[in-house]
Amino acid sequence: MINQSKLNIKTGNSVDQKWPWWPLLPLYPYGKRQTIFRELIPNQIWSFEQLQGLYYVAVPVRLTVAKVHGGLMLMNPLPPTGELLHYLGELEKEHGPVLTIVLPTASGLEHKISLPALARAFPNANLWICPGQWSFPLNLPLSLIGVPDKRTKTLLNDGFPHEESCKWLPLGPLDLGLGRFQEYSCFHNPSNALLVTDALVSIDPEPPELFDYDPSPLLFHARESGDEPMEDTPEKRRKGWLRLILFASFLRPQKLIIPPLSEVLKNAFKPGLRNSRAHFGLFPFSWQEGWEETAKELIGDKQANIQIAPVLQRLVFARAKNSYISWLDQLYTLKNIRWLISAHYSAPIIFTSRHIRDLNRRISKGSWILNKGNWGFLDALDRTLLKRGVVPSNPLEAFKD
Ligand SMILES: [Fe+2]
Repeated sequence: MINQSKLNIKTGNSVDQKWPWWPLLPLYPYGKRQTIFRELIPNQIWSFEQLQGLYYVAVPVRLTVAKVHGGLMLMNPLPPTGELLHYLGELEKEHGPVLTIVLPTASGLEHKISLPALARAFPNANLWICPGQWSFPLNLPLSLIGVPDKRTKTLLNDGFPHEESCKWLPLGPLDLGLGRFQEYSCFHNPSNALLVTDALVSIDPEPPELFDYDPSPLLFHARESGDEPMEDTPEKRRKGWLRLILFASFLRPQKLIIPPLSEVLKNAFKPGLRNSRAHFGLFPFSWQEGWEETAKELIGDKQANIQIAPVLQRLVFARAKNSYISWLDQLYTLKNIRWLISAHYSAPIIFTSRHIRDLNRRISKGSWILNKGNWGFLDALDRTLLKRGVVPSNPLEAFKD
């Protein structure tokens, strides 16, 4: 397996981790992006991971590299820091040039924001994008944000790249009101791996290795109040990770209370915590008993729990369960499928026809529009958006012939 140490690459060089375009989408860790580089499937698939998030709620985002005929294909752009480009250069020496960059999602801003910079880093690569691109609050044409028109093609409308080794499968489109949800998954035949963006995730109970660079987000959220020091132990890191998963999955988990401002201020600015790393002791969260059990439902017990992310299930596919099941039906026809590689959380995950069938059964027979426990906030949000007409009651109608 190729990894950073085998390639003898020096990590932690702050110049090489610079991401000057961070103000376009100001996500943690802002202007400095550490990258973890790993080989996921020998000589076929590689992964680059960086953290992205809001207010220390940071989760790994992945760019996947697949070997294709004559070179390499990049799926799901990430900020091309010096560090990332250095590793990619090593791969190019061994496996050929970057031929293609694919943005397979219409809506995922965290995946599309770095497409222009990545495109500039590989001026000879062709770009392929999912149809129906949009952005919010300003819906700017891609050419205006620096995506070069001349070498950009649209999946489906212009065909598909590397069909000799890739099968492209659509999930959606759905009308989200402000724009569309759609993503194309790629089944990469030589590796038997399904590459997805947001369609499926699998979360490991251990915090991702990326936090070894700076565990601050984990330690920050592992506390009970703003005056508690940020202590670094394996237990605290795990505790913080579970809380981050709850935030990222449900936005506002059930067992979380936002304390009054007076209490937040009372615990802030204590000695030792008057620094930006500890957000000056400002900690507007109060976790209630039982929060840990609700987090463990998401990560599974002994086996990886392969699942649709709650935000996607409750806010995007709430009234389009059949559309999600059709996508699973397409996956079921893939012969020799063995791996799942998602743009978030753990990868690669063993994923066979049996897993697809089980997932399909679970979704077909189970309740879909959930509103209890952790789902309460997402449910209320969806109802409000529906009532105000921001989201349509039939997200499939706009795409009927
Ligand atoms: Fe995403």
